[in-house]
Amino acid sequence: MVGAGQLARMTHQAAIALGQSLRMLAESADDAAAMVGSDVQVGDYRSLSDLRDFAASCDVLTFDHEHVPGEHLRALAADGVTVLPSANALRFAQNKADMRRRLAELKLAAPAWRDLSAVADPRAELADFAAGTGWPLVLKAISGGYDGKGVWVVESMADAEPLLASGTPLLAEAKVELDFEIAAVVARSPFGQGAAWTPVETVQQNGICTEVIAPAPRLSAEQAETAQQLALRIAAELDVVGVLAVELFVERGGGLLVNELAMRPHNSGHWGMDGAVTGQFEQHLRAVLDYPLGATTPLAPVTVMANILGAPEAPEMSMDERLHHLFARLPEARVHLYGKGERPKRKIGHVNILGDDVAVVREKAERAAHWMSHAVWTDGWDPHNEH
Ligand SMILES: Nc1ncnc2c1ncn2[C@@H]1O[C@H](COP(=O)(O)OP(=O)(O)OP(=O)(O)O)[C@@H](O)[C@H]1O
Ligand SMILES: [Mg+2]
Repeated sequence: MVGAGQLARMTHQAAIALGQSLRMLAESADDAAAMVGSDVQVGDYRSLSDLRDFAASCDVLTFDHEHVPGEHLRALAADGVTVLPSANALRFAQNKADMRRRLAELKLAAPAWRDLSAVADPRAELADFAAGTGWPLVLKAISGGYDGKGVWVVESMADAEPLLASGTPLLAEAKVELDFEIAAVVARSPFGQGAAWTPVETVQQNGICTEVIAPAPRLSAEQAETAQQLALRIAAELDVVGVLAVELFVERGGGLLVNELAMRPHNSGHWGMDGAVTGQFEQHLRAVLDYPLGATTPLAPVTVMANILGAPEAPEMSMDERLHHLFARLPEARVHLYGKGERPKRKIGHVNILGDDVAVVREKAERAAHWMSHAVWTDGWDPHNEH
């Protein structure tokens, strides 16, 4: 696996159970997965020679992030390395303009958009686009964005000016009047088998996913089915191997618009580690190793995943002590910590809670995640005053 962040760390866990060993190309020896893996090479994923060196002893090369240059992946494939997903598939997760063009060819609904990167006069192009959509609209970095970095809501040409002047290749999108957001996560094997989890609702704050609810409570059975079919179709059409997450907007009228694609385990699939028969990390491995895929059946009526996001100021209480208190209060909490340093808004872990009632499970998951990052109970609970 190229990259050794939390996704590699959790893939490593799944690899252990399958009797496989996950080799990782880490940026640094203290990356989340590098600290726990036994077969870690520190190197630069932008360097073809580092990649060649790394891939030489791998059966299959796969990814914890989308940043490996496509030309390097093509060179590795030409050397005989099995790269999954392939460079041709991965392109649609690396480049939002290529993704929008390809989905338009497949006639899949998406927000109105315009590529500002390949035109002589981006300002005139944006003005022309805005004449159709109105303001505000959304500007996005065509590649390299994550957690809302690289996404800007702009109110006017004047507001857009600094971004246009920055030289970052951009696309413009209509700002969708969205009701809520969902993700349809699926997996596909080289054999062509597909498997879909129940679509989930993803809750975002300032462009960062904070919470995932499985199954998406506000989605009708028909919409859920449509979303799964759409994601399986995209996986097949784009020849994706591994996990594919399709992020979708649900419009006020109920329509589904594709936001973006990720071709790797994704934050919206973390719930399944505890809440489904087969979680996404094992499924990704099964897919890239061309095993039959695992059942995606949920293990409870509701699973909520809440991200533990670094507090504005890290609490004095140690993580170990916070965990101790959490387990004392909420023995049902399933905690996954990434071993990462605490920084504001950084994803440092997540909590999964299973149950029957969405409101109850959400409240527990949110409270648990907040406790883990802030060492504060949002309901003022104090163990020393509890009788
Ligand atoms: N066209 C749009 N209309 C309305 N809201 C949008 C639009 N595009 C993006 N957003 C909001 O911004 C969030 C982040 O956008 P997007 O998923 O494209 O960026 P990203 O930073 O690449 O995300 P990720 O963290 O998933 O990689 C979306 O989840 C959504 O809440
Ligand atoms: Mg996104």
